[in-house]
Amino acid sequence: MGNKQTIAQRRKGDQVNLRLSPLGVASRIVGDAGLTIFSVTLVLIVRAIIGVDVTGSRVESFLDAMASSGLLLLVVLTTSVCVTNAALGVYSRQRTYPMRTKMVRLAQSVALAGAAAGVLFFLLPASLEVPIGAFVASWALAAVVLPLARWWSWAYRLDIKTIEYRQDIEARRAAAVEAAAGTTPRKSGTVLVIGGAGYIGSALLPRLLATHEKVRVLDVFMYGTETIAPYLEHPKLEIVDADYRKLDKLVSALQDVDTVVHLGGLVGDPACAWNEALTVEVNLTFTRVIAEIAKASGVKRFVFASTCSVYGASDEVLDEESLLNPVSLYARSKIGSERVLRRLMSPEFAVTILRFGTIYGISGRTRFDLVVNLLAAKAYVDGMITVFGGDQWRPFVHVDDAAKAVATVVGAQEALVAGRVFNVGSEEQNATLGDVGRIINNLVPRATYLDSGRDGDRRNYRVSFRRIRDELGFVPDWTLEAGIRQVLEALRKGEVSDYRDPKYSNVEFLKEMSGRSFLSTAVDDARELISAGDDEYRVPAREPVDDVVLDMDENRTPAPLQYTGHVPSIEAAGSTKLRN
Ligand SMILES: NC(=O)c1ccc[n+]([C@@H]2O[C@H](COP(=O)([O-])OP(=O)(O)OC[C@H]3O[C@@H](n4cnc5c(N)ncnc54)[C@H](O)[C@@H]3O)[C@@H](O)[C@H]2O)c1
Repeated sequence: MGNKQTIAQRRKGDQVNLRLSPLGVASRIVGDAGLTIFSVTLVLIVRAIIGVDVTGSRVESFLDAMASSGLLLLVVLTTSVCVTNAALGVYSRQRTYPMRTKMVRLAQSVALAGAAAGVLFFLLPASLEVPIGAFVASWALAAVVLPLARWWSWAYRLDIKTIEYRQDIEARRAAAVEAAAGTTPRKSGTVLVIGGAGYIGSALLPRLLATHEKVRVLDVFMYGTETIAPYLEHPKLEIVDADYRKLDKLVSALQDVDTVVHLGGLVGDPACAWNEALTVEVNLTFTRVIAEIAKASGVKRFVFASTCSVYGASDEVLDEESLLNPVSLYARSKIGSERVLRRLMSPEFAVTILRFGTIYGISGRTRFDLVVNLLAAKAYVDGMITVFGGDQWRPFVHVDDAAKAVATVVGAQEALVAGRVFNVGSEEQNATLGDVGRIINNLVPRATYLDSGRDGDRRNYRVSFRRIRDELGFVPDWTLEAGIRQVLEALRKGEVSDYRDPKYSNVEFLKEMSGRSFLSTAVDDARELISAGDDEYRVPAREPVDDVVLDMDENRTPAPLQYTGHVPSIEAAGSTKLRN
């Protein structure tokens, strides 16, 4: 699938201007013109060498051909190529296309240019006739040479990028070693896990409890406390059962914390699309609030859970430096959060962003709204594996490996992770939805496999995990097949009662929560407060001020006197009674 967004759309706000300067456009036009001239010249030279239309020596023959029709061919073909390239956006919007698409588009543009030049030659007077063989050969050669030159320049730059990347890694490693020299291994104090009772959080807790002095979980426990039941009594664990939008709770949860791992929020495209205002508040606005308070409270490290969904749709293998192309509010809320965190980053406040692939496998709070788990459950329970868009690529990672990546970052030297973005997963687990369906089908052969064509999900991306492997030595322990076996085993043992239960699906659970205070945003609250009816400000007209009574019974706490908004007249005030 082509990546058709313009640079401006994709990079808006990133302070990176990828628009070509006039000089850049000019140099590309000169390059394309040069390659077309080269194609025509080469064809005429070859014709002279092999003896087509030879009248004298080879050189004379070439110069004759050039003078009679070659120059015309050269000017017309070169101009048409540059004009069609410009008209089809080769020097503007097509620059953002993946390389393969770019090459195809360029070849198409040259084909169109040749057709236009052909029509022109056909219309020219007979005296200016251009040999058809020379024209077709030049045209075909240009259609090959131009895309190839683009590919070569891309591959060359990629190589340079790789060298620079390696040098960068080495510099970072050296810095980390230097930072660590003479010091004991990093021993962080309290780790606060926000959203620690969720799918990843419940897998992360045992790892952190094994290595850290104190672990605190701040969670609203949307899915109950049973998700972390085995650890509730652990002596190193502290629980703060609260919505992180309650500032008093948030501030006290952040006291004496060394590292924050932020896993909380509304997760997944459908859940986020269900209530956009709530998503923006919970995912973006409060990531900023949490990070600002954390920084002000002296937190040193902040690890944020983002997603590979930020890459959206692309034919290329994407790394942490690739352009982002979000296709959902969920992904946008993550990109917004990443930006906010980058702005807050300082030498005292080290931020690390982890972009997880799509997760699968069993944890304390297994989700069945994720494709691998869902397809496995459907195969086992319903005997059907229905895949929508089997050709879509996704990077997959087991929930235990996601937890391992977080623990690795928390335990790593700061120089290795400060200000870094890491994709979490492995190249081996970049797979199409069709691949997933077929693995499941092999394990559940009685199930029927069906590819029903694309649904509304436009995501399609393969991701590079080289950085996390090279810089942190992170390699997943699980494979897709082992994870699917684990899910099937849990179903077989009855550990999952009904995979359709809303507690296993973020969006279905949110729908079930209707009426709960969690669903209202600060704006909803403000609206409610500001639009209070007049009645709430006034004492009912018939209620005389004489009736205001202070209860002075010694044995009872006096009832608080309610302010009613009514200002008594002087006469009325004098008649206020005290009752003994
Ligand atoms: N699961 C995946 O496939 C996946 C993939 C990529 C990224 N991620 C990211 O990893 C993180 C964790 O994902 P997950 O699958 O464990 O999600 P989850 O929905 O299972 O867990 C989220 C947790 O956050 C808590 N929470 C939500 N709002 C809260 C609030 N206002 N105050 C306090 N607690 C709140 C919930 O109670 C829940 O325990 C998320 O940031 C998610 O975007 C997950």
